Order: sequence, then structure tokens, then C-alpha cells
Amino acid sequence: MGHPLLLETAVPVTEFNSPELDTLVDDMLDTMRTENGVGLAAPQIGVNQRVIIFGMVENQRYPDMQPIPMTVLINPEIEQMSDEMESGWEGCLSVPGMRGLVPRHQQICYRGFDQQGKKIEREVEGFHARVLQHELDHLNGILYLQRIEDMRLFGFEQELNEWQNPS
Ligand code: NI
Repeated sequence: MGHPLLLETAVPVTEFNSPELDTLVDDMLDTMRTENGVGLAAPQIGVNQRVIIFGMVENQRYPDMQPIPMTVLINPEIEQMSDEMESGWEGCLSVPGMRGLVPRHQQICYRGFDQQGKKIEREVEGFHARVLQHELDHLNGILYLQRIEDMRLFGFEQELNEWQNPS
């Protein structure tokens, strides 16, 4: 946080199935695994392109959550499927050690492409929908901090774990 790229709108990918794209995706997967994250957007590693990755088998940062299939999603779009909003705790690898309570659409449909250009479309809810909204925000220069409605519900993960049970 503080790097200007995180405040910019990322550029759509125009060429699929390319060595450059494969390298970018590999770098992102490495970073996400190393940092034990559930999602990552290309601008977080300094690349201004509309590429996100996400997935979770089992994650110690989010122990109570349903698994999410490991996915590479390029040029993603989101459509909300209901007006229902849900508040949940979020963290971000670009804002290490912090968590905040963020309202998100409970149910969404997302579309995009994998790195070969194959279409992906899924209807999801809950934490899976939350992760998508968080990562898509990164491609539009928005950090989750900007979505927090009550800044009293933002703090150090370690303190919140003790006082708020943010998982
Ligand atoms: Ni993030």
C-alpha cells in the first residue's frame, strides 16, 4: 500500500496463450502461495494488467471457509445476483497484518477467461463472492480499506483475533 500502481485502473489482456502471460501467472501463483493468500491481483506484483488468481483448499488465515477452486481469471467481470449485502473480515497481502470489516454483495456471477482464452463463468456466494469482489477492486485501483464503513472495525490481525474473532 502506497505504491501508485495500486490506485490505477489495470489494462485488459489482449493476447492469450502467450509466454509472457504464463510467466505472469506463475509469478502470481508463487507469490500467493508464499504469502499464504487466497487471492492476488497482477497490480499487487507491479503488473498493470487485468489478471487475478484465487483459490483455497484450506487456509490457516481463513480456517472456517469453504474451499474455492484454484482459478486464473483474466479480464474479469462481476454481476451482482441479489441486493443482499454481507459484512465480513478481509485482509490483503498489500496491507500486511491488518484486517477490516467490509460489506460485499452476498451473491454474484463472474465471467472471464483463463490464460488459454477459455471462458469461465460461475455463480457464487459468501466468501467466494467476497474474494472475487476484493480482487476485482484491485484491478480498478480500489483497496478494501476504502470499502470499510466503520473504521473502528479495522485493525491489526493479531489484536482482532483476540478481541473480535475476525474469521
Ligand atoms: Ni488484496
